[in-house]
Amino acid sequence: MLCRQLDSLPTSHFPSLHVKMVKYVLTGATGVLGSRIFKELLQTVPASDIAVSLYNPSGPSEEIRASGVEVRHGDYTQPSTLVTAFSNATKLLIISYPSISLSRVELHKAAIDAAKTAGVEHVYYTSLAYADDSLAAVMHSHLETEKYLKASGLKYTIVREGMYNEVWPLYLGVFDLKTLEGEGELTLPIPIGDGKIAWAAQDDLGAGTARILAAPSGYENRTVVLTGSRATSLGEVVAKISGVLQRKVSLQIVPEEMFVQYQTGKLPEETLRGP
Ligand SMILES: NC(=O)c1ccc[n+]([C@@H]2O[C@H](COP(=O)([O-])OP(=O)(O)OC[C@H]3O[C@@H](n4cnc5c(N)ncnc54)[C@H](OP(=O)(O)O)[C@@H]3O)[C@@H](O)[C@H]2O)c1
Repeated sequence: MLCRQLDSLPTSHFPSLHVKMVKYVLTGATGVLGSRIFKELLQTVPASDIAVSLYNPSGPSEEIRASGVEVRHGDYTQPSTLVTAFSNATKLLIISYPSISLSRVELHKAAIDAAKTAGVEHVYYTSLAYADDSLAAVMHSHLETEKYLKASGLKYTIVREGMYNEVWPLYLGVFDLKTLEGEGELTLPIPIGDGKIAWAAQDDLGAGTARILAAPSGYENRTVVLTGSRATSLGEVVAKISGVLQRKVSLQIVPEEMFVQYQTGKLPEETLRGP
């Protein structure tokens, strides 16, 4: 059965069905965070110690190809691919599935089960650095995954990744950058209220996670949080934009329902109302 499924894969991306012993298997290696972790890990350990569990239908990135690391096929929505992709490995990095929906928990659980079946020793999971009492579905899926991983019996490290610097427009009311091209005063409606975020650069999160992954010990059965060293409010972010543009920019804090009305038709329903 497994052989039949493997036979049906596009073999150009996956030249060998016999997976060798490696120390690290990385998922998500062509993505925003995973590509940075991959790049950093390559500076620290030999390429022969790394394999990539690749989903990307376009195939490996140029960087992965050039590195010569082993490329295996792994699709969270097809758990049978994961056991082979994760096998003969000591450490596995599970990058969370890119979705804000609670239903991604099932994909994460299947990946953890596959790691167990494949005989992986230590699973590293990229979670999110919100509070434990968050009401957001995006965080609940992480908390449920964390709980499942802790109960799995596998050695684990949970890396709660801070908020990307690069996504600041999202938090400014899903701010459209084209608005910056205009002139005159700019008012940005945001729902409910302002708050502080310890933003972190994607490069720094990638580098920090890779170092945790490569550390010979010290992170077993621990949850670590990676964030920036200083929290900044949206008001402060807006003041910076204002200074750069030499244009008056201000926040307008509005009730949730008013914000939803303002953005209806501009943003997907799931973004506005939650999954
Ligand atoms: N901390 C923050 O501020 C922040 C912001 C945005 C998103 N996130 C979350 O952080 C996590 C990492 O995302 P990212 O920023 O690196 O996003 P990304 O660039 O969208 O990449 C996520 C990875 O998901 C993998 N993927 C997609 N579908 C898959 C499938 N069916 N099976 C296996 N893998 C699949 C891809 O792996 P391949 O490379 O193998 O194709 C891709 O590289 C996601 O959960 C994302 O939602 C965090």
